[in-house]
Amino acid sequence: MSDRKLLVAGNWKMHGSLTFVKEMMTSLATMLPSKMNYDVAVFPVYIHLHEVINTKPEQVLCGAQNLSEYDDGAVTGEVSGKMLADLGCNMVLVGHSERRVMNRESNEEVAKKFAQALKYGLTPVLCVGESLLERQSNQTFDVVWAQIQAVLDLVGIEQLGLGVLAYEPVWAIGTGETATAEQAQEVHQFIRSQLALNDDTISRRIRILYGGSCKGSNAYELFSMQDVDGGLIGGASLTAQDFMAICQEADKLSQGD
Ligand code: PGA
Repeated sequence: MSDRKLLVAGNWKMHGSLTFVKEMMTSLATMLPSKMNYDVAVFPVYIHLHEVINTKPEQVLCGAQNLSEYDDGAVTGEVSGKMLADLGCNMVLVGHSERRVMNRESNEEVAKKFAQALKYGLTPVLCVGESLLERQSNQTFDVVWAQIQAVLDLVGIEQLGLGVLAYEPVWAIGTGETATAEQAQEVHQFIRSQLALNDDTISRRIRILYGGSCKGSNAYELFSMQDVDGGLIGGASLTAQDFMAICQEADKLSQGD
């Protein structure tokens, strides 16, 4: 286990309602201990951010699922980093594979969003990962590194180090098919070793989360890998019970179990 603080991040995607948000916040307030040795964050849709920020337990962080690459202006339907920071957000996802695929976000656009997040004091969570086809044709490392390199080229290693990385193999997202702990560790270790070529301290300090069908039953094994510093959880973050089951595994590891 590393000394990096684990992060359990719930990506609610386009799910929920105001009632769902209120109930989740009440449940987390009851179920989470007030002092935790790991971080917890939730990522609701834009229109639920305000409710989460106003009702969340103090120890829970709140993030958006996306942000604009622009500061402001005639960009109908977009939300800027400045607005998210103004609302009280702490974090923001950038480059989730669903946005890369469905909204055709390029590595360069994702890099601009990463920079925007930092500009307004938000912690960007940069999501990277290969498709099944890319894995089968041995391109995993190339694809993942190209996604990170684009950000590195734009902001440099110091700034990259202010964010969080999330390795999410596309074939494991929402499919019930989790990467094995060894598969996750292999890619996490690769990322860290590449970063070390730029800055050894930052490579050791940066948190790299795993995402893709992570749940209570596999979280402990995944999080106990040397280079896995927590999880980005989709489906299993949609009920307080499932999400708490993962938090409890993070808690055990944070106690040095
Ligand atoms: P999943 O989603 O846990 O439902 O696989 C993870 C994600 O897309 O962040």
